[in-house]
Amino acid sequence: MNKARIIQILNKAVEREIGAVFQYMGQHYRFPKETHPIAREMLERIAVEEMKHIEAFSKRIVALGGQESINSSKVVWETDFIKMMELDKDIEDEAITMYRKHIAICEEEGDEETKAIYKKIIKDEERHHKLFAELKDMLKEKIEG
Ligand SMILES: [Fe+2]
Ligand SMILES: [Fe+2]
Repeated sequence: MNKARIIQILNKAVEREIGAVFQYMGQHYRFPKETHPIAREMLERIAVEEMKHIEAFSKRIVALGGQESINSSKVVWETDFIKMMELDKDIEDEAITMYRKHIAICEEEGDEETKAIYKKIIKDEERHHKLFAELKDMLKEKIEG
């Protein structure tokens, strides 16, 4: 198993997760408590789940003798609530695509342990994608009527 290759993909995943935390957390406190309590609450919960993903990936990096990244992927500040949800859906889609590629690399390298981490996290990202789609519909109805 090429540990350096696995550490490299894991760090790419960590950086995406760090970006997602800032993106969703930043959106969380932009939604007013009075008018958008559900979106506000959901975004905080999802941001916390992404933080747990950073933990899972980083733990594996350290177990493999690597150094975890603390860099963030690009964060996009959007002020339109509906556009925010579209952006977040795309972020989840990109993560799912990336993690599927990483799973293929884990298979090439015979790293079942890392593969299992990715498989578990992909399930969360699929759920997030669905939640953002639902939130988008909910906000559309609320804002546009
Ligand atoms: Fe994540
Ligand atoms: Fe996610």
